[in-house]
Amino acid sequence: MNRAKHIAIIMDGNGRWAELHNQKRVKGHERGAKIVKEITKFCVECVDIQRLTLYAFSTENWKRPTLEVEFLMKLLEKYLKKELSTYIQFNIKFEPIGDISAFSSSLVKTIKNVQEKTAHCDGLVQSLALNYGSHDEMLRAINKLNSIDEDITEATLSDALDCKHNVDLLIRTGGDHRLSNFLLWQSAYAELFFIDTLWPDFSSDELKKIIKKFKKIERRFGALK
Ligand code: FPP
Repeated sequence: MNRAKHIAIIMDGNGRWAELHNQKRVKGHERGAKIVKEITKFCVECVDIQRLTLYAFSTENWKRPTLEVEFLMKLLEKYLKKELSTYIQFNIKFEPIGDISAFSSSLVKTIKNVQEKTAHCDGLVQSLALNYGSHDEMLRAINKLNSIDEDITEATLSDALDCKHNVDLLIRTGGDHRLSNFLLWQSAYAELFFIDTLWPDFSSDELKKIIKKFKKIERRFGALK
């Protein structure tokens, strides 16, 4: 049976959830942050799951209205400060991916602090994709490797990426069927689940059902069975 060692999630639908509940879009993000915590804690308890990578802010999300971007930045900082004790209590290692140099110095400090304080944790790795885009990640990796004389191999390129781990199961909430520049290299053989549930309505029960289906899939990785 398949093991979902690395689960990646595109958390979409916060804005629509808020509109459906006659609230401002940002309320959807607030509720979305609560689901981040619920899903992370659920993954801690699943022996198979070693890594959970969540798309929290893309390189394209800067195109949103300034007030929404500012809200997301504040929400992220608040979340990381508040949940540092949860990370430690549940032995969760925090590993950001993406180019965080574009963030405010205060947010960068908070991100680095959680990363340092959880560096010793050896349970679930929760990775938040922050100012992340696969194209940007690949360009930064290739530029890093530019100064090396040897030919670039699959292994050296993979190792130069922010996320060095293949995805087993990729889930997108919110009804759209696209990858939106998320973990394109790492998802080459991921099983893809596109579900209609809006992220603020997603739950550990629904994730459990998806994992059950994932376990039964015949994964051939291009070979014959
Ligand atoms: C997509 O929904 C969601 C985002 C761009 C941000 C994801 C952020 C969170 C889940 C909350 C904050 C996270 C942390 C870790 C504190 P959307 O706004 O595009 O929804 P829509 O498609 O309905 O408009």
